[in-house]
Amino acid sequence: MKNYVILSGAGLSAESGLATFRDSGGLWEGHDPMTVATPEAFARDPDLVQRFYNQRRAGLLNAKPNAAHKALAQFEQAIATKGGAVLLVTQNVDDLLERAGAKNILHMHGELFKIRCTNCHTHFTWKQALSSQTPCPECQAPALRPAIVWFGEMPLHMEKIEQALQRADAFISIGTSGSVYPAAGFVEIARARNIPCIELNLAPSDNHYVFTKTIYGPASKTVPRWVAEELNQ
Ligand code: APR
Repeated sequence: MKNYVILSGAGLSAESGLATFRDSGGLWEGHDPMTVATPEAFARDPDLVQRFYNQRRAGLLNAKPNAAHKALAQFEQAIATKGGAVLLVTQNVDDLLERAGAKNILHMHGELFKIRCTNCHTHFTWKQALSSQTPCPECQAPALRPAIVWFGEMPLHMEKIEQALQRADAFISIGTSGSVYPAAGFVEIARARNIPCIELNLAPSDNHYVFTKTIYGPASKTVPRWVAEELNQ
């Protein structure tokens, strides 16, 4: 019976056609993230930010889970039948883990298909386009924004994640550059507890030296292989 915490980042969804943040010369889908993914950017030019997230939502509608998402969903199920547990902590705002069938997922940086009203604080599932004029379905105020954690905002579910790290028997990190805290610090918490810490990434991350084992290659190949080996142990 084993408890796993698996952290994922943009590299997990790269082969589903969703762009990563730091692999295109500092631009994210052609934009400096500071101009589209900060509360200041939203205050300055809400429609630019809304258009940017409208495009991201449309892109996600056309994307499909890849072999890595599917392997993680199978892993979660297989570990549950052995009496263990897998917590999938993701920095990704896509729903590809959910669509692959995974259940125990925490989205630290919010979700692309969720929006919230800054007036009445209601959250909604939202797959269409949004503008700064769209009225809130609950209070009618034109105060809707993507339910995404922007730079400078607090990541979600931190208490649950820290508790899970304190119980975990292994920590796995998949497809993240290890450059954005607090997620980049999870491996240090895990290492302080002397549990195995495994990095699966395309190339060494910023904090690769903290891991006890590293596996490099595209997630669609490395993740199914790692899952098969781990389940055979
Ligand atoms: N398979 C595995 N890893 C990949 C693949 C792939 N096919 N393609 C790219 N990678 C790796 C890259 O080598 C890189 O280390 O995925 C990592 C992606 O890093 P980032 O673009 O920095 O994405 P991420 O770590 O998720 O960013 C963290 O930063 O901008 C914020 O909120 C945003 O959640 C995001 C956070």
